[in-house]
Amino acid sequence: MKSFQSIGLAGALLVTAASAQTFRRLGACPTLGCVFPPDQADFLAGQYFDIRLEVHAPRNGSEAIGLPPDEKFTFTIAKGKGKPQDVTKFFGIEDPKLEKWDFSWYEDLFARDAKKKTVVDVTSKAYRRVALYEPGEYTATLSYNNGSTTKATWLVRDLKEVRKTKNIILFIGDGMTTNMISAARLIAHKSINGKYQSLMAMDKFPVLGHQMTHSIDTFITDSANSASALYTGHKSTVNCMGVYADSSKNPFDDPKVETIAEIFYRLTGGQVGIVSTAFIADATPGALTAHTRDRGQYGHVVDTFLNGVTNYTWTKWDGPAVLFGGGAEQFYSPKLGGKTYQDKDYYEEFAKKGYQVLWNKTALASAPNDKKTLGIFTVSNMAKWIDRNVYKTNLNQSLSPAGDKTPALDQPGLKEMTLKAIDILQARSSGKGFFLMSEAASIDKMMHALDYDRALGELLELDDTIKATIAKLKKMDALKDTLILVTADHGHGFDVMGSVDTHYLAAQNTDRKKRDAIGTYEQSGQSQYVVGNLTYTDSNFPSNWDPRYTLFQGLMADPDRREDWRIHKDGPRTPVVETEKGSKDYVVNPKDGQDGIVINGTLPVDNESGVHSLTDVPVFAMGPCQERFGGVYNSIDIFFGMAECLGLSRGKKEREDAHGHRGDHY
Ligand SMILES: *[C@@H]1O[C@H](CO)[C@@H](O)[C@H](O)[C@H]1NC(C)=O
Ligand SMILES: *[C@@H]1O[C@H](CO)[C@@H](O)[C@H](O)[C@H]1NC(C)=O
Ligand SMILES: *[C@@H]1O[C@H](CO)[C@@H](O)[C@H](O)[C@H]1NC(C)=O
Ligand SMILES: *[C@@H]1O[C@H](CO)[C@@H](O)[C@H](O)[C@H]1NC(C)=O
Ligand SMILES: *[C@@H]1O[C@H](CO)[C@@H](O)[C@H](O)[C@H]1NC(C)=O
Ligand SMILES: *[C@@H]1O[C@H](CO)[C@@H](O)[C@H](O)[C@H]1NC(C)=O
Ligand SMILES: *[C@@H]1O[C@H](CO)[C@@H](O)[C@H](O)[C@H]1NC(C)=O
Ligand SMILES: *[C@@H]1O[C@H](CO)[C@@H](O)[C@H](O)[C@H]1NC(C)=O
Ligand SMILES: [Zn+2]
Repeated sequence: MKSFQSIGLAGALLVTAASAQTFRRLGACPTLGCVFPPDQADFLAGQYFDIRLEVHAPRNGSEAIGLPPDEKFTFTIAKGKGKPQDVTKFFGIEDPKLEKWDFSWYEDLFARDAKKKTVVDVTSKAYRRVALYEPGEYTATLSYNNGSTTKATWLVRDLKEVRKTKNIILFIGDGMTTNMISAARLIAHKSINGKYQSLMAMDKFPVLGHQMTHSIDTFITDSANSASALYTGHKSTVNCMGVYADSSKNPFDDPKVETIAEIFYRLTGGQVGIVSTAFIADATPGALTAHTRDRGQYGHVVDTFLNGVTNYTWTKWDGPAVLFGGGAEQFYSPKLGGKTYQDKDYYEEFAKKGYQVLWNKTALASAPNDKKTLGIFTVSNMAKWIDRNVYKTNLNQSLSPAGDKTPALDQPGLKEMTLKAIDILQARSSGKGFFLMSEAASIDKMMHALDYDRALGELLELDDTIKATIAKLKKMDALKDTLILVTADHGHGFDVMGSVDTHYLAAQNTDRKKRDAIGTYEQSGQSQYVVGNLTYTDSNFPSNWDPRYTLFQGLMADPDRREDWRIHKDGPRTPVVETEKGSKDYVVNPKDGQDGIVINGTLPVDNESGVHSLTDVPVFAMGPCQERFGGVYNSIDIFFGMAECLGLSRGKKEREDAHGHRGDHY
């Protein structure tokens, strides 16, 4: 139990932090000597990682030291109270060549407005693909600038090597909070005199935990960084996928950490599936295989799905068994307008490596289960549940995955993709088990757009998918072998505060009078989304998305917007427009919510959407090893929990033969 929590007291080393808050010289490096992985890093025994050392010599600004960048720094590692050894000796590796670069940054907002950057010269070394096997504490020490030191305490967690589950299905509701689950339950499940007549599938999970989502160097995270924490056990910086952020310009040379998908595949030969309703190169799916400090390198991310990391020494990776989602523009040829890595046609690249390629729901349903499968169903993010099921004319856009500008009318939902992924993973895993990540991406995307109804529709689709997954596993007699986790990567400051009489709202002439339409406390009434039809109560979705009395709902931090608290029937909401093209000065979209109330935003005016929030997010667990996930813990503990349940800890280096897999008992 103790090793599960990462509290970080004993090992905490005092550092003299510069006052940098809005901007930082380099996230997890407050001193002029940087060690990555930094102080307080936890490792799975045998997990591959890179080490990056940097020595900073600020040329000017508040930290200017008047020294040239140090080219003779040294780095030692000591196990426990043992004698420090030079890193090359410790790992039995060569010393890499010294790298040099410079970068610049603003020390605060005043410096930004005055365009006065501080310039920093850097000397650096990177040690690629090392691993720590023996559990316990290590002290890594960088000595630089004539007597300064930076110490990092590293902990290799002491986890049992026994495998407790054959399969893991990790559902991620991107941006999903407990508040959103409460709202979704309210609109989709009937209540009589204060008692729900049915519950969400998530509500029925036996174990509930809470995870803290903050970044390594900021308290609000983005999805790339939080996915890295969930998949690698290492927190990082906003925009990072599977790396710590270094200060060099190259977005691909940052120090990497091995992900759960890579470790599971390397050690067990089990199958990996990746499913998302986002464009598939997006952060949450991408962080399973990509290693870059820039989540915007979409073409590169797609290449790593197929080929792994190719330019820097890294782990073995042969592609997932299943890759389903949107984002066709990173696959089809640039001749059709595709934006691909090195201008290749990635449908062809996947086909060359034995993948069957699917473009629609019909093809998905009839595809054989024994082949590696790429399913790309639209350009950009996939259509939302509400548009696929209620307002179908919104699908009439030029988004065909073929890149031929026809509409992508026959898109599957998260449920169809996930159930098919399970069939393929089960058929291909030949007893070695599987790891599937299935993401309801547009809970987050629609919350960003302040389109609460669509976000809740996506959340309900996630819940419907979970329900269908449990039923399917039961039927396959695989439920007892499968740990199911449902969690999120971060929240949004969303809640429901009452109801809105949309008819009354529309009938008033002033914003002040319109506010009378909002009913709080005893005037909030009951949910009008579920009509009084008892045969309908076990449905997973509202029977009416456009009732007179809607939810008085919203976010904590917004751009300017006009709220009428009604479903957007013409497709996902666009709350703002630019004052003029390219101005990045966002004001209320005059076409949006015309009956509603103008509410001025609190975010910087160049923010066109809502933003993430600090809240802890829930973790629901069911299946073998479920008890590991109760309580309150850090996002990285999800990684360590999954790794322990899959028995992936390795206290000794193993022979890396052709397969590299040892005979697991599953
Ligand atoms: C640091 O030097 C650069 C020129 O090398 C200059 O542009 C910048 O304004 C200086 N920054 C500060 C904080 O003085
Ligand atoms: C390093 O320290 C020594 C002894 O204090 C001093 O003589 C030398 O000038 C220092 N070098 C630098 C680069 O600061
Ligand atoms: C990998 O190396 C090749 C050849 O030097 C280069 O063209 C490509 O841009 C590099 N890609 C990445 C992701 O570093
Ligand atoms: C689905 O994709 C297949 C090719 O994989 C194509 O032949 C078929 O016409 C498509 N069906 C629809 C409904 O788009
Ligand atoms: C789809 O959009 C096109 C162009 O806007 C229009 O001509 C066509 O009638 C629409 N089809 C449907 C089924 O709405
Ligand atoms: C109740 O809902 C079901 C399912 O949509 C529908 O078939 C039935 O006609 C409804 N009954 C009443 C009385 O509205
Ligand atoms: C309030 O929002 C409106 C519409 O976006 C905008 O025109 C106005 O400038 C905003 N007021 C303030 C004080 O930001
Ligand atoms: C939001 O505003 C901040 C501060 O002005 C800016 O740095 C950031 O790029 C904006 N983000 C988005 C998504 O517009
Ligand atoms: Zn987000």
